[in-house]
Amino acid sequence: MPATPSGAKGAVITGWGTALPNKILTNIDLESMMDTDHVWIRDRTGISQRHVGGTTAGLSAESGRAALQMAGVDPADVDALILATTTPDRTVPASSSTVQNLLGLSSCGAFDLNAACSGWVYALVNAHGLIAMGAQTVLVIGTDTLDRITDYTDRNTGILFGNGSGAAVVQACDGPGQMLGWDLDSLGEAESALFAEVGGFLQMEGKEVFRRAVRLMVDSATNAMASAGVAADDIALAVPHQANIRIISASLDRLGIPMERASIVLDRTGNTSSASVPLALAEALDQDRVTDGDLILFVGFGAGMSAASAVVRWSPHATTNSGDTT
Ligand code: ACO
Repeated sequence: MPATPSGAKGAVITGWGTALPNKILTNIDLESMMDTDHVWIRDRTGISQRHVGGTTAGLSAESGRAALQMAGVDPADVDALILATTTPDRTVPASSSTVQNLLGLSSCGAFDLNAACSGWVYALVNAHGLIAMGAQTVLVIGTDTLDRITDYTDRNTGILFGNGSGAAVVQACDGPGQMLGWDLDSLGEAESALFAEVGGFLQMEGKEVFRRAVRLMVDSATNAMASAGVAADDIALAVPHQANIRIISASLDRLGIPMERASIVLDRTGNTSSASVPLALAEALDQDRVTDGDLILFVGFGAGMSAASAVVRWSPHATTNSGDTT
């Protein structure tokens, strides 16, 4: 993948927000729904609970609204909405249309992007592309309502997934932007490892996904760091897709990034697919784990099998093109 061109219009993240449905499904709850137990799930995946319920559009509107408020952006000033989701509320139209209406984004383009669990990182890279082409403000949301395609009697899949949403406002800035390098991948030959037919439940070869996931994450992150011209030692915060704590640990170990530098939310959220990276980013930012100049590595993988990574140098106080200091 190419490095971010030096002449491209830069962009910065100026606000973020999250949404999780109120209803929580714990591992103990699952014990009465399938042949499993809390300790096995926690030890083999790192997950203790997940949120269920809500709609993709409703959760997206909640996280998107919070992100716009933090950024101080008038909804009328959003140029584009990208909603990363693998669980739209309806087949037609795209859920982004509903979200656009709910948020009052009166003059923007809106589209869904489906790259499974890599979706939000794909969307972030695409937002930077739109800004390089002249857009000023892009709202990037990642939302999934996986409870609608999860069979809660199947212990192979029913223990893993949950619902959630995370959003970021990305705005054009003067001078260099945050994104230093990126990588997008797809391994279509492995698509049978994880899929859901239209109207059906997720089917997964768990061991195959695990094996491929580690390799994909390592390769994609390595490519993004190379295109950014940075090394693993330089990464202050890793924000990996939250599928399984053992996948994250094995991947970061191979990359040479200590686990203490990772943001982990999957113990409380499960695998929320497109929402997992922005949820983990928001928690790290809210906990002040990131300071000016820090390098953040985003790395996602998912069905497809897709992978996406990006390296960002955090600079939340950059001046946006509107002249505001954020
Ligand atoms: N509860 C209790 N016991 C279980 C369960 C369960 N839910 N599932 C399997 N077991 C048992 C098995 O029967 C087996 O028992 P045995 O040794 O007596 O035969 C033992 O536990 C080990 O089973 P495995 O299938 O080998 O379990 P594994 O260690 O591979 O873990 C898991 C399964 C957690 C699914 C793992 O393979 C995994 O995380 N894979 C990746 C999944 C993933 O990340 N998916 C999302 C991709 S992202 C996206 O796009 C949505």
